Amino acid sequence: MKTLRRWIGGIKRRLSGLLEVKAGIMLSQPVLPESSVASGQGLTEPELRHIVRYRADLACSEPEFERRTRRGNRLYELSAEGQWLCYGWVAEAGTRIGVLHNLQLTVPERAFYIWDCATDPAVRGRGYFRTLLKEIVNAHYPVSTLALVAVDTGNHASRKALANAGFRPVFTYYSVRFLGFVPFSFALKDGKITAAQPQFDGLRHGKAVVRGSVHS
Ligand SMILES: CC(C)(COP(=O)(O)OP(=O)(O)OC[C@H]1O[C@@H](n2cnc3c(N)ncnc32)[C@H](O)[C@@H]1OP(=O)(O)O)[C@@H](O)C(=O)NCCC(=O)NCCS
Repeated sequence: MKTLRRWIGGIKRRLSGLLEVKAGIMLSQPVLPESSVASGQGLTEPELRHIVRYRADLACSEPEFERRTRRGNRLYELSAEGQWLCYGWVAEAGTRIGVLHNLQLTVPERAFYIWDCATDPAVRGRGYFRTLLKEIVNAHYPVSTLALVAVDTGNHASRKALANAGFRPVFTYYSVRFLGFVPFSFALKDGKITAAQPQFDGLRHGKAVVRGSVHS
């Protein structure tokens, strides 16, 4: 019986590695004149910094840091009293970036895309991610006019922080990967199902619907 269970467990694990069904939400917000940022609680006023040089305590390896930076991405960090609290990467306008499986985004002109973010597990739930997001948006005014970010539908903490920071959904996308291939993906926008990639390309052509108006 134990052997059978182990055997079934092994098959399940192998199948789940072969088949991946994922869903995400693309969100945006207009970049408006600087708004005051209510900071996270617990430490003295946190500060946003653009990290230009690799440090051993960063969450990625040095070659990965260099690769991302070369390709038009910037790393931002929120820290206080010399301690990092939260970080996020930002792809600047013109950067081509993978969002999910083979879905890609070319960051539109005068926009930026926030990705690969995390808060130190010891200080989660204190508003630091919301603060990081708002500080990044403020730092891009007036050069950029649109902030973009994508989140897994199941990431409720991130979705809450994004909503708190002023991001609103543009469309939801779904993608299935089986044996390394992506047989289909689609997007749901305004109650209509469409192909997913054109929605990402539409952002490039300035069709992001922001707070009920078309932003270009
Ligand atoms: C997602 C993440 C960055 C959030 O960081 P954080 O600093 O804790 O975020 P904040 O404190 O600003 O906001 C989290 C919000 O989610 C809420 N929250 C926490 N867990 C939740 C859950 N399971 N369901 C719903 N809401 C939740 C918090 O109460 C808070 O909302 P509030 O301020 O209105 O009370 C952090 O959990 C993390 O690093 N996760 C792993 C990496 C990751 O998922 N990154 C994806 C970023 S797109």
